[in-house]
Amino acid sequence: MTGYAETYRRSLERPEEFWAEAAEAIDWERRWDRVLDDGRPPFFRWFAGGRLNTCWNAVDRHVAAGRGERVALIWDSPVTGQIGHFTYLELRDEVARLAGVLASLGVAKGDRVLIYMPMVPEAAFAMLACARIGAIHSVVFGGFAAHELATRIDDAKPRVILSASCGIEVNRIIPYKPLLDAAIAEARAKPEHCVILQRPMCHAELVPGRDHDWRELAAAARQAECVPVLATDPLYILYTSGTTGIPKGVVRDNGGHAVALHWSLRNIYGVQPDEVFWTASDVGWVVGHSYIVYAPLLLGCTTVMYEGKPVGTPDAGAFWRVIEQHRVRVFFTAPTAFRAIKREDPDGQLIRSRNLDQFRALFLAGERADPPTVAWAEEQLRVPVIDHWWQTETGWPIGANCLGIERLPVKRGSCTRAVPGWDIRVLDAEAEGTVRELPAGEIGALAVKLPLPPGALPTLWHDDDTFVRSYLTTFPGFYQTGDAGSIDADRYIHVMTRTDDIINVAAHRLSTGEIEEVLAAHPDVAECAVIGVADALKGQVPLGLLVLKAGIKRSADDIEREAVQLVRDRIGPVASFKTALVVAGLPKTRSGKILRGTMRRIADGELYPMPATIDDPAVLGEINAALANAGYGKRDRV
Ligand code: COA
Ligand code: AMP
Repeated sequence: MTGYAETYRRSLERPEEFWAEAAEAIDWERRWDRVLDDGRPPFFRWFAGGRLNTCWNAVDRHVAAGRGERVALIWDSPVTGQIGHFTYLELRDEVARLAGVLASLGVAKGDRVLIYMPMVPEAAFAMLACARIGAIHSVVFGGFAAHELATRIDDAKPRVILSASCGIEVNRIIPYKPLLDAAIAEARAKPEHCVILQRPMCHAELVPGRDHDWRELAAAARQAECVPVLATDPLYILYTSGTTGIPKGVVRDNGGHAVALHWSLRNIYGVQPDEVFWTASDVGWVVGHSYIVYAPLLLGCTTVMYEGKPVGTPDAGAFWRVIEQHRVRVFFTAPTAFRAIKREDPDGQLIRSRNLDQFRALFLAGERADPPTVAWAEEQLRVPVIDHWWQTETGWPIGANCLGIERLPVKRGSCTRAVPGWDIRVLDAEAEGTVRELPAGEIGALAVKLPLPPGALPTLWHDDDTFVRSYLTTFPGFYQTGDAGSIDADRYIHVMTRTDDIINVAAHRLSTGEIEEVLAAHPDVAECAVIGVADALKGQVPLGLLVLKAGIKRSADDIEREAVQLVRDRIGPVASFKTALVVAGLPKTRSGKILRGTMRRIADGELYPMPATIDDPAVLGEINAALANAGYGKRDRV
C-alpha cells in the first residue's frame, strides 16, 4: 500500500492523474472533457464537461447494485425518544417523492431551495431531493434568528423553502415557523411556496396559498427521477460568516464534491462501505453537509443523524450509548462537546459502562483541539484521537492524520500534515501582495497554493469579485485560509488563530464585526467593540464593550441587557452573546484603530505589552479596571 508521503507527493505533482483515478469511484452520465480546466485563472474547474447526479451516486446506485436493504440512515433522537432506520431503498423512495413535490411546485434545475430544519431525517431527504432534480439547496442553521435567515433568503432567492414546525433544544420546543414568517416578511425576495413538516410537539399555522403541509404533498407526489447536471453546476450554497453582517455564500459544485468526499471518507477517516459512521453536528454546518449526509452516503455507509446534545439528553453518556447501540466505527465531533462531557463525567464512568469494542477512531474539528481535551479523550477511549483542520470554504479536511492511508504519530496541538491535494504554505502575513514563505516553525498566514483540489469552493454565489478579493488577492497565486499558524520541521501543521475578526464559539464560526454592527444599532450606543474571550467550555465567547452617547442617563444595566437581547434577536442564540459592558471609552491607536487584541489579552489575564502607538494610556487603565471589576482576567480558560 502506498504511504502518506508518496500519496501526498503524487497528488501535488500529478493532480489530474490523481483525481481522475479517484473519480472512477463515481458514476458519470458523461465523462469529463478535462480533469482540470485551468483556462481562466484564478478560477479553476474540476471535471469540466462531465455530467453526473449527486443523488444517484449517494442513493440510487447503491440500490441498483443490490444493496437496497442495507441501512443508509439511522435517526437517533433522544429529545423525542425516537430511533428510525432507513434502508437505501426507503431513502430512495423518500427522496424521489420529495423531489416530486419540489418539481410539482415548479422547482427545476438551477433553482434555489432553502432548507431551515432541525435534525430530522427529512432534512437529509430535502438536501438529496434538491440534488436529484438539479436544484441548488441552501441550508440555514436552526439557531439563527429571523434576520439572518432573511439575509440568506435575499441572497439565494429561493423559489421554495422547506422547514418544520419546530426544533427541540434539550427539553425546550423552539417553534421555527414564527422565525420563518418574520424572515419572509423582512426579505425582499419572497419564496413562492413553503413546505412545512408538522412535528407532533408543535403545530405551525400555515399561510393559505403559500404554505403547504409536507406530508400531504409527499403522499400525493409522483417520484421524480435523477436529472444529470454538469460536474461544474452548483450543488449547494452554504452561507458562512464573513467580516461583515453580510454572510458569504460558499458554492459547492457537483462533480469535484462527489469525488473529493468519496475519496476523503476512505482515505482520511479510514472508513469502508457498509460501516457505520457518525458525525455529531448539524446539517446547518459544512460538517453536517459533508459528513452527515454526502460522504457516508456516497461511499455506501450507514450514517447516523443525531437530534440531541453531548450532555443533557439525558446525560454525558449519550455519545457512548449511540456508539454502542448503532455499532459506530468512526465518530466525528467538535472538541467543545468533549469539554462538556469531561466536565460532567471527568473519570469517564459513563464511557466504561458501554461496550465500545467496535469503535475505531475519534475525529475532532471545528476549532483547535486543545491538548488537555485530546489527552483526556485518548485516555478514556483508547482509540486514535485525530484533530483535523478545515473550513466551510474547503468542504473537506485540509490538514489531518489520514488514517486510511497511513497513521502518522500524533502531536497534540497539531492537526498533523497536509491532506493530499492541499499544498499548504506559511506566508509572511506582513508582506501582503507578495509571497514570502516562512521557514519551519515560524508563525504566519496559512495559505494553499492554487489550484485548490476538487470539492473546494469554486467561487461565492453570484459574487466572483468578493471571492477573489477575500481569498485570492492578499497572496497572489494562493488561497488565504484566514487562519494563522506554523508548519514545523516534521511538516506538522499548527493552526493557532484567525487573521481576521472571526471567532470560534462552541465550534460555531462568528464574526465579531457582525456583532458590532448589531450593537452599534442600539440607540444609546456611540461606539462599541466585540472581542472573543477564552471560555472553558466553548473555547471562546463574545464580549461586547459599549461606549454610550453623551448625555445618556439610563441605567447601564438596562442598556447591557437590551444589547444582549438585540444580538439574540438579530443573529440568534447561537452567538452565545451573554455579556455586554458599558465602559467610559475604548483604547485606540493614534490613527483611531481600536485595540481589540490588547483588550482580549487583558480579559484573558495574559501579559500584554503597552502598544507603542496608543493614543491615551489612561483609557486602557480604565478598561483594565472595568474588566477586572466584571470578573475578567482571572477566570477558567481553555
Ligand atoms: N435551534 C435553535 N437554537 C439552537 C440550535 C438550534 N438548532 N442550536 C443551538 N441553539 C441555541 C442553544 O439552545 C443555546 O441557546 P441558549 O443560549 O438559550 O441556551 C444557544 O443556541 C447556544 O448553543 P450552543 O453553542 O450549542 O451551546 P449549548 O449551551 O446549547 O451547548 C455544547 C454547549 C458544548 C454542549 C454545545 O455547544 C455543543 O455540543 N456544540 C457542538 C458543536 C458542534 O456541533 N459544532 C458544529 C461544527 S463541528
Ligand atoms: P467553519 O467554516 O465554520 O468550519 O470554521 C472554520 C474555522 O474553524 C477555521 O478557519 C479555523 O479557524 C477553525 N478550525 C476548524 N478546525 C480546526 C482545527 N482542527 N484546528 C484549529 N482551528 C480549526
